[in-house]
Amino acid sequence: MSVTAKLSLNGTDFELPVFEGSEGEKAIDITKLRSTTGYITIDSGYKNTGSTKSAVTFLDGEKGILRYRGYPIEQLAEKSTFLEVAYLLINGELPGKVKYENFAEKVCHHTLVHEDMKQFYEAYPSKAHPMGVLASMVCALSTFYPLSQNPNRPPKAVDMTIIRLLAKLPTLAAWSYKNSLGHPIMYPKNKYNYCENFLHMMFANPTEEYEPDPVAVDAIDKLLILHADHEQNCSASTVRIVGSSQANLYSSISAGVIALWGPLHGGANQAVIEMLEKIRNDGGNLQKWVDKAKDKDDPFRLFGFGHRVYKNFDPRARIIKKSCDDLFEKLGVDDPVLDIARQLEEVALKDDYFIEKKLYPNVDFYSGIIYRALGIPTEMFTVMFALGRLPGWISQWKEMIENGEPIGRPRQIYVGEKVRDYTG
Ligand code: CMC
Repeated sequence: MSVTAKLSLNGTDFELPVFEGSEGEKAIDITKLRSTTGYITIDSGYKNTGSTKSAVTFLDGEKGILRYRGYPIEQLAEKSTFLEVAYLLINGELPGKVKYENFAEKVCHHTLVHEDMKQFYEAYPSKAHPMGVLASMVCALSTFYPLSQNPNRPPKAVDMTIIRLLAKLPTLAAWSYKNSLGHPIMYPKNKYNYCENFLHMMFANPTEEYEPDPVAVDAIDKLLILHADHEQNCSASTVRIVGSSQANLYSSISAGVIALWGPLHGGANQAVIEMLEKIRNDGGNLQKWVDKAKDKDDPFRLFGFGHRVYKNFDPRARIIKKSCDDLFEKLGVDDPVLDIARQLEEVALKDDYFIEKKLYPNVDFYSGIIYRALGIPTEMFTVMFALGRLPGWISQWKEMIENGEPIGRPRQIYVGEKVRDYTG
C-alpha cells in the first residue's frame, strides 16, 4: 500500500506523495503543492528541504554515519587512496587495479596548465588570498578549453574535463602559494603521485633538493579522503545550482570554491587556527572564550564546533583527531596551539550550552592543526579543503546533469511594499 501524507488547508484535505530513500529516509513530495493548493513551503537555509535525490553520499547526522557510494568513511580513510575515492565518487564503483592505474596515470599526466596562465598570477597583489586566486583560475581554465563550455557533450569529452580539473587543481593551488611568497613557481613532476606532486610544487624550490616526506604524503591523502564529499552542503548545492543553468563544469566548480571559502563552511579551518592563536595570545583563559561564544550579544562563535547535520559527533573529526595524535608523535611536533585545542574541546564538551545544542567538534577543528604541523600556511587551509572536495563537487554536478535536473530556482514570499505610484 502506498503511503501518502495528508495536508489540511482551510477545511480541504490534500494528499501528498511520500518518498523513501534506500536508507529509510522519508520525504514528502511537494512538487505539485503550489499548483494544487496555491501554497509554497518556506524553509530559510533549506534546513528541512531535500533539493534532490542523490546516490553519491549517505549521511546520518544523529548516528554519526558517513558513507561514499555505500562505503563507510572509516574503511575508506584506512584502506583507500584519495584518487581511488575520487574515482569511486565520480563513477559510482571502485575502479579495480587496471582502471585505477589508468585513471591515476591520466590525472598525474595532465598537471601542466597553459603557460599564459602564469601571467594571471603575476597580476595579483602579493597578499591576495589563495582562495580568491584559485576560484578565478579554475574559472579561467574554461577559456582555454572552449569546447568544454557545453556541459552536455559526449561522456568521453566530459571525462577529459574531469581529468583536467583533478590534475590541474593542485598545480593552480600551489602556484597561488608560490606567488604569495614572490617565489618562482615549481612545475609538476610526473614521477610523483597526487599528494607528492602537490607537496613538491608547494615546498620545492630551484635552489635545493626536496623530497616529499611519506608521513606528510599519507596525512594529506587521508585528509583529502575525509573531505571528498558531504552530500548537499553549501558548496555542493552551489555547484549543482550553478551547473543547473547549463554553465560549464569549470565555472560551476569555481562557484563551489567561492561558497567553500566562507568561515561558516570550509573557511572554518583557517578561522579555527586564528581563534586558537587569539585565545593563546590573550592568556589562554578558555572559559572566557566559551562564555563569549554563548553570549547572544557577542557575535563570536567557537569555530570548529557545531554542524548543520551532525548532532551527535562528526565521524570525520573522530578520525582526524586520531590522525593528529599519530602525526604529532611521528613528526615529534610540539605545538602549543594543539594543547589549547584539546583543553578547549574538553571545556566546551562539558558545558551545558554546548551539550544542549549538540555542538561537537567538526572536521575543521583538527584539520588545521595537521596542516600547520605539515608546514602548510594558514591561508592555504581552505584551499586544501577545496582540493579534497573537488571529486565530490564533480560527482554532484555529474549526477545533476545525467539526471536532467531542472534549473534551480527557489520561490519566495514577498514581504515588501505593496504597489504604489511613482511621484518623482
Ligand atoms: N559556537 C557557539 N554557538 C553555536 C555554534 C558555535 N560554533 N554553532 C551553533 N551555535 C548555536 C547558535 O547560536 C544557535 O543558537 P540558538 O538556537 O540559541 O539561536 C544554535 O547553536 C544552532 O546554530 P545554527 O547556527 O542555527 O545552526 P546551523 O545548522 O544553521 O549552523 C554551523 C551550523 C556549522 C554554521 C554552526 O554550527 C557554526 O557557525 N559553527 C562554527 C563554524 C564552523 O565550524 N563551520 C564548519 C562546519 S564543518 C565543515 C563544513 O562541512 O562546512
